[in-house]
Amino acid sequence: MSIEHIRSFIAQDMSIVDDVIRDKLHSHVALIQQVSKYIINSGGKRLRPALVVLSAGAFGYSGKHQHHLAAVVEFIHTATLLHDDVVDESELRRNKETANALFGNAASVLVGDFLYSRAFQMMVEVDNMRVMQVLADATNTIAEGEVLQLLNCRDPDVDEDNYLRVIRFKTAKLFEAASRLGAILGDATPDEERALAVYGMHLGTAFQLIDDLLDYSGDNQDTGKNLGDDLAEGKPTLPLIYAMKVGTPEQAGIVRSAIEKGGADGFQPVLEVIQKTNALDYARKCAQAEVDTAIAAIMPLRESEYKDCLLQLATFSVTRNH
Ligand code: IPE
Ligand code: IPE
Ligand code: MG
Ligand code: MG
Repeated sequence: MSIEHIRSFIAQDMSIVDDVIRDKLHSHVALIQQVSKYIINSGGKRLRPALVVLSAGAFGYSGKHQHHLAAVVEFIHTATLLHDDVVDESELRRNKETANALFGNAASVLVGDFLYSRAFQMMVEVDNMRVMQVLADATNTIAEGEVLQLLNCRDPDVDEDNYLRVIRFKTAKLFEAASRLGAILGDATPDEERALAVYGMHLGTAFQLIDDLLDYSGDNQDTGKNLGDDLAEGKPTLPLIYAMKVGTPEQAGIVRSAIEKGGADGFQPVLEVIQKTNALDYARKCAQAEVDTAIAAIMPLRESEYKDCLLQLATFSVTRNH
């Protein structure tokens, strides 16, 4: 089964999700419409909303709330991207200019706030305290993750545990929430809900590990982002942490000073060290281990095409190049 198969299996649901998204972007303020439509219409894999839909399906949910919550999750994701691109000073996303490059930092931050708060208006409509709890906790944790990451910038002494904590917070938590929401809608048992949470957490961790690896080895065209953005910001991601750990003192020194200085100049020499120390293989192995844990967590679920799609999505998150 491929990612295309997953897409066609849930195509009808995802088209309803897109209708909800379009409907809920409405605002009387023209700039809000302009910026939010720009980023939402520029694509994106819609992975997190797909998780809500698949997880709800795996528990036989037949109501309507999954489309609504899938849109909520995509709004939260989009808000974090608007903010993240300002913080990271990124200029390319989804193969287009970032909103901050086109409309400026202030507009990006404020429209991100609009999307966040719209997501909260929408989640209240579902009128389910568990749902609100999960999403309130997730958004709070994401913000903590982004701030923790800010503190780690230009610090070459950040270790693997510290790095993993950041990516679990800033990225994996929303994958966890998305997977959990489907289980809640489908009246899963507490054990089943926990299983979906574990699945989402580890899937999301793998997803960010690969994102960080693609920043050194991907193709601009495939990722739709500029390679080297992470190093330019002085972000100590796993390929760098590992290269400093196993490299010679000279190699470690090259990476250390590139993290401390930031900027684009250090990219080529750091890339060489990464290659010589097989740091990307190591990061990929870590991502695979996360995915194995994600898969094991949902194995006990009853058989269904939804479950097969969840399993396949986990594999996609490590084999992806975009
Ligand atoms: C980008 O997420 C931010 C990360 C957590 C790495 P995606 O790669 O899911 O972004 P889109 O929505 O598909 O553009
Ligand atoms: C993911 O981190 C950002 C969020 C979870 C908000 P990155 O900074 O690596 O994401 P990209 O690479 O800009 O998409
Ligand atoms: Mg970024
Ligand atoms: Mg990235």
